[in-house]
Amino acid sequence: MNVAQLLSKKRHGGELTDAEISLLIQGYCDGRVADYQMSALAMAICLQGMTPREVATLTKAMLESGERLPRESSDRRGRPRVDKHSTGGLGDKISLVLAPLLAACDVDVPMISGRGLGLTGGTLDKLESAAGFRSDLTIQQMDAQLQQLGTFIAGASEKIAPADRRLYALRDVTGTVDSVALITASILSKKLAANLDALVMDVKVGSGAFMQRMDDAVELSQSLVRVGAGAGLPTSVLITDMDQPLGETLGNAMEFNEAVEVLSGEGPPAVRELTVELAANLLCQVNVTPDRDTAMDLLSRKLDDGSARQRFEEMIRAQGGSWTKPLKIAPEFSKIDAHCDGYISRFDCRVLGQCVVDIGGGRRQLGDTIDHSVGIRVHARVGQRVNKGDRLLTLHCHREPATDYSSALRGAIEIVDVPVECRPLIIQRID
Ligand code: URA
Repeated sequence: MNVAQLLSKKRHGGELTDAEISLLIQGYCDGRVADYQMSALAMAICLQGMTPREVATLTKAMLESGERLPRESSDRRGRPRVDKHSTGGLGDKISLVLAPLLAACDVDVPMISGRGLGLTGGTLDKLESAAGFRSDLTIQQMDAQLQQLGTFIAGASEKIAPADRRLYALRDVTGTVDSVALITASILSKKLAANLDALVMDVKVGSGAFMQRMDDAVELSQSLVRVGAGAGLPTSVLITDMDQPLGETLGNAMEFNEAVEVLSGEGPPAVRELTVELAANLLCQVNVTPDRDTAMDLLSRKLDDGSARQRFEEMIRAQGGSWTKPLKIAPEFSKIDAHCDGYISRFDCRVLGQCVVDIGGGRRQLGDTIDHSVGIRVHARVGQRVNKGDRLLTLHCHREPATDYSSALRGAIEIVDVPVECRPLIIQRID
């Protein structure tokens, strides 16, 4: 069967065999399948979906397109190896805190992360706010740092799941990102390459996330748990709220500073709570602690006694970064105040995210340079009582944005007369 026939089979809802999926992915890697054919396949998968078996085979084929991080360094030191991955949300700086925190609990965390694209920022961009920080580690450098510090945070090198790297770039420009099958295979192929003992996923749902609806978030979560388990990687999921920004800052350097506050036992409670919940899940999965309460106690201690922060500083230095504390932020440019008395009922996170991108804090296209110092400070939370004139947002940037954001930002925060119940941060657990 030729490539065009396989594309047509999927387009008509047919189920591809293991051999056909391998042929398509291997062919893509060695040039027998062209970019335009892969784009057509991605679109057919978006429209027709894939069976669980097809997703598992696609994940395996993408994993096998590259190399794996060696396991021996963790085995020799008797350290379990874990990771957390988020589907991405506004103000999500959890990875910066969680990786060094778990490393300080004698667990290895080889964290392969991404850059921001679209409205949600990327972990690597946040870390690169520290001058000189290098995220382009080779597999050998990743392994060496894991042995030395128990953690690194780096981009997927050319060698890790290269099929995903190329396919993701195509999906991004062909409107084919939001497919449960493709997202599952993309995330898990990279995580499997790290040779982990356990993975926890933070699947975000709400106006600041990929998944706007709960049903979609549940479907993705079940797919990740099923395919992860099938491939020998125990995976659990927390579905978490993204109907308001996480924490008080949006923008790379501002979020870096906020992560350091949390690593120092301070910072916004929501960031600490979610970090500790996700990390506790992992400690229990790999039996480092007997139960969740013991895990939460251990993690809280490591945040409060400075050991997590020290590990973070060591990690930044090991990857070439230097920072004066706190990192420099662009000056206050404008502010948004409450236009009436009432209760905050809703944020339209997309408007806030778009504003951060437009003032230079994010990319419109792959390859755009970003200004790490710009961002938004969020002074309000859903459910909070405000009086007319109270500060809701402060915009930090160097010059007038191309668009006047004042009215859009004001409209993005809804204030109502009656008290509002806030959706819990952790909405559902799936494992
Ligand atoms: N993150 C990934 O790594 N891949 C996706 O497809 C979506 C989010």
